[in-house]
Amino acid sequence: MRYHWMRQGSALAIGVLILAGIAAVMSINARAAGLDTAGSAATGMTIFDFECASCHGYAAEGTDAAPALVGDGAPADVLSTEDIGCRVAEGFGAMPAATLSDRDLADVAAYLREIQAFGGI
Ligand code: HEC
Repeated sequence: MRYHWMRQGSALAIGVLILAGIAAVMSINARAAGLDTAGSAATGMTIFDFECASCHGYAAEGTDAAPALVGDGAPADVLSTEDIGCRVAEGFGAMPAATLSDRDLADVAAYLREIQAFGGI
């Protein structure tokens, strides 16, 4: 975990800035391609903060309560979006099932992929 030296708040603030940049680029690309896919990672961040961060940490870096979701070999690295969605929707080991729509699950998975792509924390 390379974030030891950072306070969680500054890691979150940097993450928000980077996501805003990614979302802006994505929306330009999506518009260029005529698709309406922009913003799902940004929406996923909001969902993650409310539904997941209490256990997994705001940067998905893991806490005493739950494992990291990003990093080498972590779920965002090795699992498909579908598998991430299934584990969240059905519960996984000590994690209780979450009641999220398929769209919410896809947005959360998109968010995890963005922070994984950004550096795997
Ligand atoms: C109440 C605490 C809690 C909450 C809230 C929670 N999780 Fe978890 N999660 C866990 C724990 C604990 C594990 C590890 C379960 C195990 O290995 O037994 C886990 C495991 C996972 C896994 C599977 C990890 C693997 O090894 O494949 C994924 C993916 C995941 N969580 C994503 C999420 C997402 C996305 C959310 C929000 C929608 C979320 N979790 C909310 C506690 C939580």
